[in-house]
Amino acid sequence: MQGNVRPESMERITTKALADAFIDEQVKEVREQVGDKKVLLALSGGVDSSVVAALLIKAIGKQLVCVHVNHGLMRKGESEQVIEVFGKALDANLIYVDATDRFLDLLKDVAEPEKKRKIIGGEFIKVFDEESAKLEGISFLAQGTIYPDILESDGVKAHHNVGGLPEDMEMELVEPVKLLYKDEVRVVGEALGLPHAMVYRQPFPGPGLGVRCLGAITRDRLHALREADAILREEFDKCGLAEKVWQYFIAVPDFKSVGVRDSKRYEGWPAIIRAVNTTDAMTATIEEIPYAVLHKITDRITHEVEGINRVLLDLTPKPIGTIEWE
Ligand code: XMP
Repeated sequence: MQGNVRPESMERITTKALADAFIDEQVKEVREQVGDKKVLLALSGGVDSSVVAALLIKAIGKQLVCVHVNHGLMRKGESEQVIEVFGKALDANLIYVDATDRFLDLLKDVAEPEKKRKIIGGEFIKVFDEESAKLEGISFLAQGTIYPDILESDGVKAHHNVGGLPEDMEMELVEPVKLLYKDEVRVVGEALGLPHAMVYRQPFPGPGLGVRCLGAITRDRLHALREADAILREEFDKCGLAEKVWQYFIAVPDFKSVGVRDSKRYEGWPAIIRAVNTTDAMTATIEEIPYAVLHKITDRITHEVEGINRVLLDLTPKPIGTIEWE
């Protein structure tokens, strides 16, 4: 099995031929590791877990059991899409768990970012343990860990798919893309035949909107964030930025300011737009969004989203900011 350090001799996967060679090698390794046992996969619907799902479906077919946990922190329409693509189109073994209340109840009044991440990661593992207990003979847990997750799991941030695993985990891990950078995961995904739109979809963190609903999450502010984010994505789609920009989203902090609506005082949260470009998520630059697009987004968010009364633009590159907002 591969270790956690990418060998210097490992060529960057940039072509279909290199991706095919990687896939063949991983299919063989996964089959050797798994034998005739069953594998449980946390399928968030993001690029990483989707590519792992496709790779494992190729390697072991119905021995793979995909579990999609809706932690209540998904973007608008996202869980529905996972059911559509994997449950229906790809005919995978898919279990859908709506755990929204469980997660949001646990997160109530928790403001500290690392604590929020640990709660979300810990609860994920619990849900998976519960789901696997209901299934016969699950021996492995597959994860969409990628190389930047490993490089950054040095205490700077506890990514749920690296830092959050309990030491007494009973299931052995299957992590076929853990030595790959994001751009390589995408090349592998296309080589596996996944739809272009899915493979080039922007990344979404495991803790989801939980890291963008700053401070202690409340249901009303989370709802406002989800709606504002959906508007941003819709407008980026319309003007062609969705294909061009690497990652873009809204964050909503936990403070209000005074505004005016319908000639009355209207207190609301600000929606912060972040749109960045990068190749490997280790550094990032800011996309220069045309002002006409910014005005349109601002107009729609402030008129359509209950609770938002200002729209701000984050101009901070990484470093010094991280890509996410927490
Ligand atoms: P940061 O905020 O550290 O993010 O600059 C770098 C990239 O990683 C994504 N990210 C995550 N991905 N689980 C993931 O799978 C996580 O917990 C997580 N946190 C951040 C982030 O969206 C960005 O693309």
